[in-house]
Amino acid sequence: MLDEVAKLRADAEAAIAAAGDADVLEELRVRLLGRKSELTGVLRGIGELPAEQRGPVGSAANEARQAIEAALSARLAGLEGGELEARLADDAIDVTLPGVAPVAPGHLHLITQTRREIEDVFVGLGYRVLEGPEIEHDYYNFTALNHPPGHPARMVQDTFYVDPATLPDGIVNEEGLPPGPRDVVLRTHTSPMQIRAMEAQGPPIFVVVPGTVYRRDSDATHTPMFSQVEGLAVGPGISLADLAGTLEEAARALFGPERRTRLKPDYFPFTEPSVQVDVSCFACGGTGELDDGSRDSLCKGTGWIEILGAGMVDPNVFGFVRKRGYDPDTTQGFAFGMGIERIAMLKHGIPDLRKFFENDVRMLGQFS
Ligand code: DAH
Repeated sequence: MLDEVAKLRADAEAAIAAAGDADVLEELRVRLLGRKSELTGVLRGIGELPAEQRGPVGSAANEARQAIEAALSARLAGLEGGELEARLADDAIDVTLPGVAPVAPGHLHLITQTRREIEDVFVGLGYRVLEGPEIEHDYYNFTALNHPPGHPARMVQDTFYVDPATLPDGIVNEEGLPPGPRDVVLRTHTSPMQIRAMEAQGPPIFVVVPGTVYRRDSDATHTPMFSQVEGLAVGPGISLADLAGTLEEAARALFGPERRTRLKPDYFPFTEPSVQVDVSCFACGGTGELDDGSRDSLCKGTGWIEILGAGMVDPNVFGFVRKRGYDPDTTQGFAFGMGIERIAMLKHGIPDLRKFFENDVRMLGQFS
């Protein structure tokens, strides 16, 4: 009988060790330890055994039962651990692998790239970058920039006026009255930020102001919306020579270290004197002629390309911010304004301004 129990136990342990999953183990548990199992049968029959066998067989059978129970739980724990590990191994994701982009990554629009390039040049020279409102008071867009009443730039064909009925409550014009039909504009240039910047900060001040501007104009070189960068430098002793040096530095950074610049007289209401800044043509090197002897169409044979307007800030402009510490009798500074699209067109040989806004990826994708 003892041998029988030992065999039962050994067979059971072998079956448990061979069980491949939790379901098989459960079946084994019922078969080996259940009410109808052989071992249970042995235990039940102990009373019928000869007296001297009852003790040894009883304890052998109980030990066997305990051993089988222990083997079952150990195997179950092992299987569950193994199953978890197998599942983890199957499901493993290598997070160090690069993902697959659903679409090719894009790139910055050429106007944004060019704007950043211009900003970088001036940040390198110690300027701060500011931005300002695109819906602007006539006061900042014109009046405080020394546009006398009746100046042609105020005429309806150049400027988009904002219907006062569309404005939020509480907006007033410079007289403190509700705005009239000519009091609020889509800014026609970034120059109003000269005044706003000086209102916010006394001299010295060195700022550049990129932003979108609006004019009623539309052809190959004019779009109703375009971008400019305004510049303002005010500080002790700042002169036209500083203007020339600063803008030559900028022109070289943008168009190449070989470039030269020249100033020509111009007119803007808010600068005196006013200048136009030309850069020597980078297509023909300033000769006006291409290598094959033909006339360079980029500079129209002149060897020079106009890139921006500038000038010494008109004392009348300082008069509008006198209270902020800009005494018109003693304060000096210069200002400039350039069109970002124009700079990009020149640099990249783009013939039509409208191409920037048509969003044709065949065009934009060339400037990634
Ligand atoms: N605001 C002028 C324009 O839109 C550009 C300009 C010219 C800005 C001369 C300036 C400046 O600051 O000094 O045409």
